[in-house]
Amino acid sequence: MGSPTIWWAHPSNEPGCGAVDCGAPSGKGGAGGWLCGETSGVSWYDEGALFAGLAAEQWAVSSRTDARLDAAFYRELIRSQGGRALEVGCGTGRLLLTFLAEGLEVEGCDISADMLAWCRRDAGGLTPTLYEQPMQELAVPGKFRTIYIPCGSFVLVMDRQAALETLRRCREHLEPGGILAFNVFPVPINYTEPPADDFPTPWQTGAPIALPNGNRLEVSTRWTALDRTEQTWHEQRRYHLYDDAALLHAETRTGQGRWYFRNELLWMLQLAGFAPADVSTTGNLTIVATR
Ligand SMILES: C[S@@+](CC[C@H](N)C(=O)[O-])C[C@H]1O[C@@H](n2cnc3c(N)ncnc32)[C@H](O)[C@@H]1O
Repeated sequence: MGSPTIWWAHPSNEPGCGAVDCGAPSGKGGAGGWLCGETSGVSWYDEGALFAGLAAEQWAVSSRTDARLDAAFYRELIRSQGGRALEVGCGTGRLLLTFLAEGLEVEGCDISADMLAWCRRDAGGLTPTLYEQPMQELAVPGKFRTIYIPCGSFVLVMDRQAALETLRRCREHLEPGGILAFNVFPVPINYTEPPADDFPTPWQTGAPIALPNGNRLEVSTRWTALDRTEQTWHEQRRYHLYDDAALLHAETRTGQGRWYFRNELLWMLQLAGFAPADVSTTGNLTIVATR
């Protein structure tokens, strides 16, 4: 591996505040934002921002036709565990509403009020129990047999200590014998080569999404930075809402994520109180930990 240079190319060239004072106190920021811990090197970031507004509408609409490839795995866990389950980062209810409709006892929490609003709106006759809170502050009534964090959402907690706190709090919310399951996406980065990417990368636009009211949503994404030492990426998502040919509304949302390797997740789970013998991982980084 080369020198531990931070390959940083944020458009504003802003360094992580581990290196330079970002002007904000450490700890929790206003409006749901999280500030860097002194060891994180991550700039202030509002974790609720990426999944609000048109982004929430897009996720809700796409969720209706999503293939739900991960549903079988989490359904089987919840069924085999019996009892209450909690989906952390439940979003618009892609999985949660599916499982509720099947008669499973699932509740949800999410940082984004807009995502939860769409979840309630799409619930049909169901009345989901939903909590608006960041997973690093998880504090909901009662204990659960299963807690699951699907779709790689765990990596959206940017502060390392806050990520560890998330695992601790999930464990505290489990009954003895209860299970925490989550996945992260393996990141295909070759650490032996200098970075090839030039930031920001060009916008990539996906196929237009037809909204139920006849409008059309176009979503474009680009990477704005990658920090291979901090294991963080920065991105932007641009939403263009059209009525026929006319652009009605545009939003650009910023996002961040932190990637993990298997062994650091195992250490984190151990620090959070899970016994190493009670944790299993798959090759594609799905983790199951039993309390
Ligand atoms: C990729 S979406 C997944 C939504 C849903 N679980 C699904 O599978 O369709 C990520 C979700 O995590 C939520 N999220 C992001 N950061 C969060 C945090 N710190 N605490 C709780 N939820 C968070 C977002 O608001 C969003 O709804």
